[in-house]
Amino acid sequence: MSDLVDHSRRRLLTVATVGTGAIGVAFAAVPFLTSWLPSARAKALGAPVEVDASKLEAGQMLKVVWRGQPVYVIRRTKAVIDGLGGHDELLADPKSLDSQQPAYIESTGAARAINPEYWIGLAVCTHLGCSPLGAFEPNNPSQVAGTDLGPGWPGGFYCPCHGSKYDISGRVFKGMPAPKNLTIPAYTLSADARVSIGVDETAKPA
Ligand code: FES
Repeated sequence: MSDLVDHSRRRLLTVATVGTGAIGVAFAAVPFLTSWLPSARAKALGAPVEVDASKLEAGQMLKVVWRGQPVYVIRRTKAVIDGLGGHDELLADPKSLDSQQPAYIESTGAARAINPEYWIGLAVCTHLGCSPLGAFEPNNPSQVAGTDLGPGWPGGFYCPCHGSKYDISGRVFKGMPAPKNLTIPAYTLSADARVSIGVDETAKPA
């Protein structure tokens, strides 16, 4: 893709400078190159983020920033994993058909993860972009700033801006302001739980 863009821009530059002669080439080339080459900052902003998730204990979460957006990495307990499929009827998009994630995540169903033990997702509410808070403890009705999350709360996320609730796979409950499940970015997960956020699992060397 970038080759196509580069070649096409080079052709444009050639066309633009043909009529101005050799002196014109020198003056036209500098602004073209400075606007074309990405800055180190831009490269860093688009770079993958590496996380050693093996350092997390079950039930813990960490937050990293990738491309200027917060991303949660959670290590789920076995009890939470076993309960993931138990409340689908309460969710707006239980199969994530209308939500954003790579195809290799969509096919993992309720887990929404390459390995159900580790969940990675954008901490950006799909309503207006606030950061949902972790409310992981099941059946604790008032664990986020005194907010009653309701009886039978399965554990998940609560967005304090307008009250959207998500389960611990980032699937939004019915009747919430948020229209979609939390977005899952492309990532890879190694056998020793190292996560590369921003790298597509299908592009990983075998
Ligand atoms: S931004 Fe999260 S509910 Fe509105």
